[in-house]
Amino acid sequence: MKVVHTIEELRDQLRGQNRVSFVPTMGNLHEGHLSLMKMARQHGDPVVASIFVNRLQFGPNEDFNRYPRTLPDDIAKLERERDVYVLFAPDEREMYPEPQSYRVQPPDDLGDILEGEFRPGFFGGVSTVVLKLLSCVQPRVAVFGKKDYQQLMVVRQMCRQFQLPVDILAHETVRAEDGLALSSRNRFLSPEDRAEAPALYAALQSIKQRVAAGEQDLATIEGDATQALDARGWQVDYLAVRRQRDLLRPEAAEIAAGEPLVVLAAAKLGATRLIDNLEL
Ligand code: PAF
Repeated sequence: MKVVHTIEELRDQLRGQNRVSFVPTMGNLHEGHLSLMKMARQHGDPVVASIFVNRLQFGPNEDFNRYPRTLPDDIAKLERERDVYVLFAPDEREMYPEPQSYRVQPPDDLGDILEGEFRPGFFGGVSTVVLKLLSCVQPRVAVFGKKDYQQLMVVRQMCRQFQLPVDILAHETVRAEDGLALSSRNRFLSPEDRAEAPALYAALQSIKQRVAAGEQDLATIEGDATQALDARGWQVDYLAVRRQRDLLRPEAAEIAAGEPLVVLAAAKLGATRLIDNLEL
């Protein structure tokens, strides 16, 4: 695997390639990321991964400085798996040589709901860096995890509206045996909180069961699950059943007609904020 730190070196490595498959990450790689790379390998060649902790998508009180940076370990994992041909690991000066005054602004009805409501500016920061990374790598396909469901949708819509010549592929969420979705932030959980963490996925599953059983009062279902998590010491930011196609609330008639739904949640356990979702 070639590790490159500049856009010029990246372009040199990829000259003449037109089937590049790309996985953007912020590093601290876990099994979830590695399975994205495997999927990338099935859909193109060569596979390029990037590791860049993008300041633009962190709010002023968020964990940018604390975000785990583990490049040597990440490189070792990628070398072991042998799926990635080029790792692009730029520093901040390479990605943002001047203040990023041109930015992608996602539409309010997608960018400012759910995650966007609790993390103002997050999806603008994600979209801007993803556009820049796509422009550096120029892949034919790029793979994103469904764990960040809303991010996946934002990226898909951005690529469609800007008519970027890239297909965005979605990979299922990879979970620990007890159901916890793998995430770089799981490492911040204390042993007690790690033991409690699967309760978030359990709450999503219980919602799925109630909807599957024909219950239609979503506010009650969401409220019950929120209360149950609160009672166990969680602080729920949101827990919401939405339409898969646009993440808006479904009408009763749509639920009855079998509209594809997804339940999305974000909640804090101690100082760690976890997100998860489940298609219904
Ligand atoms: O999902 C992530 O790790 C990041 O949001 C991404 C897509 C790499 C952009 O910084």
